[in-house]
Amino acid sequence: MTTTPRKIRKAVFPVAGLGTRFLPATKAVPKEMLTVVDKPVIQYAVEEAAEAGIEHFVFVTGRGKGAIEDHFDIAYELEATLKARGKTAEIAQLEATRPAAGAASFVRQQEPLGLGHAVWCARDIVGNEPFALALPDMLIHGPRGCFAQMMDVYARHGGNVIAVEEVPHEHVNRYGVVALAGDLGNATHRISGMVEKPKLEDAPSNLIVSGRYILQPEIFAKLETQKPGAGGEIQLTDAMIALMAGQDFFSYRFEGTTYDCGDKIGYLAANVALALARPDIAPKFRPVLEKLTRE
Ligand code: G1P
Repeated sequence: MTTTPRKIRKAVFPVAGLGTRFLPATKAVPKEMLTVVDKPVIQYAVEEAAEAGIEHFVFVTGRGKGAIEDHFDIAYELEATLKARGKTAEIAQLEATRPAAGAASFVRQQEPLGLGHAVWCARDIVGNEPFALALPDMLIHGPRGCFAQMMDVYARHGGNVIAVEEVPHEHVNRYGVVALAGDLGNATHRISGMVEKPKLEDAPSNLIVSGRYILQPEIFAKLETQKPGAGGEIQLTDAMIALMAGQDFFSYRFEGTTYDCGDKIGYLAANVALALARPDIAPKFRPVLEKLTRE
């Protein structure tokens, strides 16, 4: 069954994770607020969604995540001080990264029951419409945002669209892994199966779910009754498998590079790669980096 494409207006960002891999940095600071060059990790995903035409940003937060709300609010004292000092460029930068009034919602996941549960916590805010979902740890850098690319696939095919990429076989057990059926052109395939964190020998491919999804609202009913899966957590992948019985799922191999900022090496790589991609920073940073790597 093909679902006629409806405009995607909302994006969900699960940001309730504890960030234990980044302790002690994440003791008092949400992991999503760690900076890559000069922006918090979460802002890259929000900007990617905005570039794709998303109008409303839904954050699934938890205790200790207040800095994320503050980040997307007006910093009144700061902005008044900047204005008094004539710092117009800085004010413009803050304004550019702020959702419009009423365009950001925050809902708490009260218990860490898994990604599927976190997404389900957004059901009332999303309502009965298709939505985008971004796992902000996966920072995707490329000439065009991953969501903008996925919107084109969605406009052509409708249904549910999952961004995928290849990883070395020995890493597939860290991710959701897809099995593909028909090649539809434009780096798009029909998905015939999925498995969350398979054993290496059980993985159907080395194509992983990269943390960007366009999903139909019927996923919420599946999540509502979803039993815990891999790691004892309520898994989004399992609910997607259940939804595949009645809806189309398409994979899309996006153009761009993913940095897994939930992992120290990925996070460090993101900082280096994005600094080297910045014309205002790269000329000064490259010689420093070259010197460091020679030592
Ligand atoms: C989640 C998803 C998984 C996906 C991964 C991407 O896993 O469950 O399917 O491949 O994100 O980062 P998590 O990283 O939360 O364990």
